[in-house]
Amino acid sequence: MSLIPDMYAELPRPIRKPLWQIWHKVMIRYDKDITANYMNYGYQGLNGDPVLELQEKDEKDRYCIQLYDHVVNRSDLLNKKVLEVGSGRGGGASYIARYYNPKSYTGLDISASIIDFCNDYYDVKGLSFKKGIAENLPFDPDSFDAVVNVESARCYSSLTIFFNEVQRVLRDDGKFLFTDMIRPREVANVKRTLETCGFKTIHETEITANVVEALNRDTHRRETLIRKKVPGFLVSSFDTFAGAKGTERYNSFINGTYQYWSFVLEKTADKPGIHSRGRSGEL
Ligand SMILES: C[S@@+](CC[C@H](N)C(=O)[O-])C[C@H]1O[C@@H](n2cnc3c(N)ncnc32)[C@H](O)[C@@H]1O
Repeated sequence: MSLIPDMYAELPRPIRKPLWQIWHKVMIRYDKDITANYMNYGYQGLNGDPVLELQEKDEKDRYCIQLYDHVVNRSDLLNKKVLEVGSGRGGGASYIARYYNPKSYTGLDISASIIDFCNDYYDVKGLSFKKGIAENLPFDPDSFDAVVNVESARCYSSLTIFFNEVQRVLRDDGKFLFTDMIRPREVANVKRTLETCGFKTIHETEITANVVEALNRDTHRRETLIRKKVPGFLVSSFDTFAGAKGTERYNSFINGTYQYWSFVLEKTADKPGIHSRGRSGEL
């Protein structure tokens, strides 16, 4: 059963969209008391980085929150209009809306069931959720000051189309705050595609070691939660999906199959250089 999460990135892209809808329904079914609001591998500062101050209720999600914080903390989001593409179970959207006080924060996801869940569950000023796909964002040009994207882009049918969509919905000088796992041989291509699509890099970091350290520290919590909530035949799938230590996903960061990167980018051009549904820059 762990095969699907293991092989996810190798599955044909058209299969990935329905898989997400099914996966969210499975999670809603098994996480009845709602303890899993994040679906990323997390981030841990190294070399004496300052400790992020969190409210008591957020402590259990520290590592997943730290990934969100790492990607947004160089940008001023106060009173800004922010879009998150691939907001999943909405934990990161809630964190940013509560701690960074944007004017509005819209979480967008491909799954109708997770959007309904998020709109029912969260009651945070300025925070709302909308169904849509990354490759065809349901917003007018120049609608947002910043777009956040955390561990979601590798699922999309085309990075080029997604980056062009982000460029379209951002205002001039708007920020694109993007983090995901990328195969080492694709990193240069992804950076080139970002540039061709009209983004200037303000900051970029390879954070694989930070993600691995977060998984080292968070594996026990993840495994305990999974064993408490899901039936035995699903445990190995969920362990792999969660990147628990010893799974194929965790090992892919250790053995160099994947790196994890984060980018702070700024919109530089009104019109992106690429309009076609090209396949360049795929993760
Ligand atoms: C690994 S989860 C990360 C969720 C969230 N960013 C987090 O860190 O908790 C990836 C999310 O991307 C969403 N997704 C996948 N393909 C998408 C697409 N084409 N358009 C919008 N969302 C998509 C999935 O439904 C899922 O919620």
